[in-house]
Amino acid sequence: MALQATSLVSSSFSIPKEGKCSASSKDSSLFGVSFSELVKADFSSSALRCKREFKQRVGTVRAQTVTTTPAVNKTTPEGKKTLRKGSVVITGASSGLGLATAKALAETGKWHVIMACRDFLKTERAAKSAGIAKENYTIMHLDLASLDSVRQFVDNFRRSGWPLDVLVCNAAVYLPTAKEPTYTAEGFELSVGTNHLGHFLLSRLLLEDLNKSDYPSKRLIIVGSITGNTNTLAGNVPPKANLGDMRGLAGGLTGLNTSAMIDGGDFDGAKAYKDSKVCNMLTMQEFHRRYHEETGITFASLYPGCIATTGLFREHIPLFRLLFPPFQKYITKGFVSEEESGKRLAQVVSDPSLTKSGVYWSWNKNSASFENQLSQEASNADKARKVWEISEKLVGLA
Ligand SMILES: NC(=O)c1ccc[n+]([C@@H]2O[C@H](COP(=O)([O-])OP(=O)(O)OC[C@H]3O[C@@H](n4cnc5c(N)ncnc54)[C@H](OP(=O)(O)O)[C@@H]3O)[C@@H](O)[C@H]2O)c1
Repeated sequence: MALQATSLVSSSFSIPKEGKCSASSKDSSLFGVSFSELVKADFSSSALRCKREFKQRVGTVRAQTVTTTPAVNKTTPEGKKTLRKGSVVITGASSGLGLATAKALAETGKWHVIMACRDFLKTERAAKSAGIAKENYTIMHLDLASLDSVRQFVDNFRRSGWPLDVLVCNAAVYLPTAKEPTYTAEGFELSVGTNHLGHFLLSRLLLEDLNKSDYPSKRLIIVGSITGNTNTLAGNVPPKANLGDMRGLAGGLTGLNTSAMIDGGDFDGAKAYKDSKVCNMLTMQEFHRRYHEETGITFASLYPGCIATTGLFREHIPLFRLLFPPFQKYITKGFVSEEESGKRLAQVVSDPSLTKSGVYWSWNKNSASFENQLSQEASNADKARKVWEISEKLVGLA
């Protein structure tokens, strides 16, 4: 199947916007279940300094536009061939799993990380405080809640001259306490619009770039979640993920003449997140079915474990945020540190033993990776095709 040509719009770096999710906090819930049933950076530097840093960065990226992609193998003065640094784009690398993965990869000295984030200054500070060496990362602006921003990012990335060896679709929003839906720039419900549709457009456009890479193992990774899999205990905590007949998705999730929910039901922020994760896992499989054989790209998803301390839970009530980490540590024992989760995702990016395509990776108690089973819905080939076909219409690719 021929790769689709990408359409680009002219672009420039834009000052990143603040996140625009909003949610009222009332009900306390664990991925949507009432908590009782279960038993954000120092911005002290002046705006002026921030602007200067931003300008310097933009300058750096522009300077890179004159560079050409380095050959995959370099010859050392001793005549030994060494592999060039891999180049990986990670969305949502300003905190949590994305930041920990960026750090784990950068520390090996074998990867240059393009941190694709909506908040430039937050990301710059996060990278610095994580101790990521300057030469190992570049920040580029990406707001997944705007399809224009996704297209601008792709354009900026191409102009930067970096090759694309691995793309990690990691960013997400989770709005469990929202009573009313909020929307992306194009008017899609925010969770599915950001977590699925933004990433869908990004990965479809960047497939061409990945395919051009001469790196030994090129990969497209879309972060999934146990919460979208109803074959697990966590996935059975109501509200359960369910895409239904996708009438809401087909209607554009606008909440106007159609529901903001994929299945056409009443809005539920926790379910919208879980549904978006099912879309992520189905999209990975549809990529595999359509493109793995033709391109050799490895398509994979994963559940990194319950990283109870990340910003994902920022919209939850304070009591939940206080009790969730110890609950996961001492009761469910499902807790995974940000550092450990970063190592796991870094494995899926770079480990030579994790090249199998179409796989949803998980880790056992000894932190050993294994191929996990997806739920019936999250592995339904017809649903995967339908999510793909509706999504490409929504993002303007069909
Ligand atoms: N935490 C867990 O237990 C857990 C479990 C399973 C799977 N996951 C998955 O792991 C991934 C990372 O989550 P996390 O736990 O690390 O949460 P996190 O710390 O909140 O990280 C989410 C990242 O997404 C970014 N983001 C949100 N909206 C965006 C937008 N419109 N455009 C660009 N970036 C945006 C955030 O940027 P800002 O910094 O600008 O907000 C942040 O960098 C998600 O896919 C999540 O579903 C997490």
